Amino acid sequence: MSTSNEAKKAAGEAGAALVEDGMHVGLGTGSTTARALRALGRRLRSGELKRVTGVPTSPGTERLARAEGIPLTTLDDRGGQEGAAPLDLALDGADEVDPALNVIKGGGAAHTREKVVAAEAERFVILADASKEVKRLGERAPVPVEVLPMAAGPVARHLEKAGAAAAELRTGASKDGPVVTDQGLWVLDAHFAPEGLPDAHAFAEALAYRPGVLDHGLFLERATDVLVGRSSGNGVKHRRRRP
Ligand code: 5RP
Repeated sequence: MSTSNEAKKAAGEAGAALVEDGMHVGLGTGSTTARALRALGRRLRSGELKRVTGVPTSPGTERLARAEGIPLTTLDDRGGQEGAAPLDLALDGADEVDPALNVIKGGGAAHTREKVVAAEAERFVILADASKEVKRLGERAPVPVEVLPMAAGPVARHLEKAGAAAAELRTGASKDGPVVTDQGLWVLDAHFAPEGLPDAHAFAEALAYRPGVLDHGLFLERATDVLVGRSSGNGVKHRRRRP
């Protein structure tokens, strides 16, 4: 197994180990979260874990969860526990994590649903490997912005005015033309590399009420924990957000 695969597996398994009997769990999207889902499936099938339900953030995750035998539910079903947050825990990957646990997500174009699910979780746990750790968000990964197709041009110009070096329409790897999200929309990638975002909060603010924008991949002050997997059986580094 490659070093990166080992690290993702370590992070995924550490994430799955946080799940306890009866929990409602947000299920993120991506290759690292897939490792967590497989580990969760194993724990459920062995009987070590019971009465767990998951809320998937994409059709891909939904398919994998079903294949792993993880029972699925929605954000509206909390098993009659009034006043509780709908989800005890959400597990998800990231494209970048900064020292304050702010995150860029959306490498898989699933960030809009991932943010809805993260906002409903008492604990939002990011599963990563060391390649995702950066000093400043945007050093390597672009900030994905989900847009209405007819607004792509105006929003791209707005992103560049707001400081992006370039805003590029994301196109498919095995399909001609734009990547179409699970909502039927497009994704603009706002690039800030190599310096990164001078002020991630200001950029998020500039997108907050922009017509045609559904949501973006900046998850600021949202993650409660980050599990950074290491290779060669060196375990996992657990970073927690300071209150
Ligand atoms: C999908 C995401 C993913 O969680 C993020 O891109 C990380 O993916 P991976 O674990 O495959 O590196 O945000 O929209």
